[in-house]
Amino acid sequence: MSGAGKVVAVTGASGYIASWIVKLLLQRGYTVKASVREPNESRKTAHLTSLDGAKERLQLFKANLLEEGSFESCLEGCEGVFHTASPFYHDIKDPQAELLDPAIKGTLNVLNSVAKFPSIKRVVLTSSIAAVAYNGKPRTPDVVVDETWFSDPNLCKESQLWYVLSKTLAEDAAWKFVHEKGIDMVTINPAMVIGPLLQPTLNTSAAAILNLINGAQAYNNLSLGWVNVKDVANAHIQAFEIPSANGRYCLVERVAHYAEVVKMLRELYPSLELPEKCADEKPLVPIYQVSKEKAKSLGIEYIPLETSLKETVESLKEKKFVSF
Ligand SMILES: NC(=O)c1ccc[n+]([C@@H]2O[C@H](COP(=O)([O-])OP(=O)(O)OC[C@H]3O[C@@H](n4cnc5c(N)ncnc54)[C@H](OP(=O)(O)O)[C@@H]3O)[C@@H](O)[C@H]2O)c1
Repeated sequence: MSGAGKVVAVTGASGYIASWIVKLLLQRGYTVKASVREPNESRKTAHLTSLDGAKERLQLFKANLLEEGSFESCLEGCEGVFHTASPFYHDIKDPQAELLDPAIKGTLNVLNSVAKFPSIKRVVLTSSIAAVAYNGKPRTPDVVVDETWFSDPNLCKESQLWYVLSKTLAEDAAWKFVHEKGIDMVTINPAMVIGPLLQPTLNTSAAAILNLINGAQAYNNLSLGWVNVKDVANAHIQAFEIPSANGRYCLVERVAHYAEVVKMLRELYPSLELPEKCADEKPLVPIYQVSKEKAKSLGIEYIPLETSLKETVESLKEKKFVSF
């Protein structure tokens, strides 16, 4: 019980990744102060308050990234902060208001409050591979992406990759802030996160798998890194607990093209109707590698993609997003 007697905060606790962070923290004996936007909406909180240990050691706080100071009561008295809240969706009309402001201003809002509480020893920020890999360098099978890569905001803007831009600018703003204030911060930079859902709502990365098994005619011509949500949550906690943890940690079990993901799903579920063709006629976007060296130092032994896919599909079935 590495967390016994310790108090930590998790922002955006009702979300997909944060819910797993809360679950594992409670399992390890931590007392968790969890921020949610709507603490009185049971659809957003029931899956948290029913976790083992929640009755004794979970407290909910209302906070919004866009309301200055709203995280203070949540962060007060904590030793560690897991800042995971940030919008992740693609279907947006106003990138500034819907993605960029909550990601960037929201992160600075949380960090401003962190700076007020000397009890906070470390912040673990949920960044993304989005803040790492989009810098215009070619990504081919012999290229190894690692933590020294930083996405290029101009390129993100030109390509209108608004979510990627939001994560890139938020991480950059966070590093500048913590360097100036002398705050200890570690970032976790996962790729597409899949695996079982704890929350009752559908999150964006699980939706990518649901789309494939729910009648899509074609798969995207895209190669992505994939990682299991349990490994991602565990990495966050390891990054808090291991004193020497520092800087950024890319988390990718493997990079696979959607064509390969569909092939794996077909092997797992032979009777399922899956897309037969690629969305365009261009050559398949090549895979690349992502370094596992730093993640290894957190003790992460990745759950294989096949298992993650199976767990995602089973969870989507259990939560009735799909039936077969
Ligand atoms: N899933 C992935 O593949 C992936 C990969 C890399 C990084 N990430 C990062 O992981 C984090 C969590 O993402 P997720 O996949 O778990 O998505 P999610 O389930 O949609 O969770 C996002 C969380 O952010 C909260 N949030 C959004 N806007 C907010 C605001 N204005 N004020 C307060 N909270 C707000 C949401 O709160 P509500 O519940 O109230 O809406 C929700 O709890 C994000 O930082 C994301 O960028 C995700």
